[in-house]
Amino acid sequence: MTLNEELYKIEQDAQKALEEAKTTEYLEAFKLEYLSRHGVLSTFLRGIKDASIDEKRTVGSRANTLRAELEQKYESKLSVLNKGSVRKIDVTVPGKRPAQGHLHPLTIVRREIEDIFLSMGFEIADTPEVEEAKFNFDLVNMPKDHPARDLMDTFWLADGRLLRAHTSAGQGRVMTGRKPPLRILIPGRVFRNEATDASHESTFHQFEGMMVDKDISMADLKGVIEVVLKKILNRDDAKLRFRPTYFPFVEPGIETHVSCLFCKSGCATCKYSGWIEILPAGMIHPNVLRNVGIDSTKYRGFAFGGSIDRLAMLRFGISDIRLLWSGDPSFLKQF
Ligand code: PHE
Repeated sequence: MTLNEELYKIEQDAQKALEEAKTTEYLEAFKLEYLSRHGVLSTFLRGIKDASIDEKRTVGSRANTLRAELEQKYESKLSVLNKGSVRKIDVTVPGKRPAQGHLHPLTIVRREIEDIFLSMGFEIADTPEVEEAKFNFDLVNMPKDHPARDLMDTFWLADGRLLRAHTSAGQGRVMTGRKPPLRILIPGRVFRNEATDASHESTFHQFEGMMVDKDISMADLKGVIEVVLKKILNRDDAKLRFRPTYFPFVEPGIETHVSCLFCKSGCATCKYSGWIEILPAGMIHPNVLRNVGIDSTKYRGFAFGGSIDRLAMLRFGISDIRLLWSGDPSFLKQF
């Protein structure tokens, strides 16, 4: 390559680099590469000292002209870019919203349940999670030798207390020493020492309700259940049915079934039956009323104990109960 050709190539490259420099950082890099003391042009000029006088003169003067031209273009581009960077701030562009938290689906459903019961004149009570066996079992008609004790996989503590296995443990706490009429709701965490799967968790939430007065009947129980479930599930078309069942603390005891919200003819959630079991309840056993000091010949009452987790799952279409405690943001984001 002759010196002329070499210079021509430098010129082409430099013009291209200048054109492509769209930020001041690139422009400074261009200046460093081509125009600085150790840049391409200075190195080129130093390199021609051995050329002939004629060549030195023509190529040298061309190189100096090129340097002047590039310096001028550099200056003008720099001032354009500097101005541009000021103009680039568009104060009308909307800001980025910080990510905002929201209520957990269990909290949403629990608060709705509380609101519905408050509107029906219930008081809301909080009773201990670490509980005495007396409240978890004895007062709700499960004395020491009662076989139903074995049905509940209880977490026992070293001191003889336990983690309550159901909110029914609160019944004795809120009713003892009170005179009916009573309308009380106990929402809270309960614990069961059992293997977890898609529909069982060792920690979950229940809402225990009871209403005690002179002439409370199954009709009142059914009415309350219907209002609550339809509101929480947000489905007016949900059908309910009641089936007899056994719990030591109610007589008679019932299971509430709701028509499957996810299918018409059978799916895995309703185990192909079209019905989902949802709210156990019943008329408070006379023994329980006696145990808490209420005259069972004068007063009657109903009680129910539903799972808040289960209602949240049905309401939001959550298929695995374990997700509720997973803390997984990609799950929680959906509510
Ligand atoms: N305590 C029962 C359970 O946890 C539910 C229940 C409460 C049933 C009140 C009837 C009346 O399984």
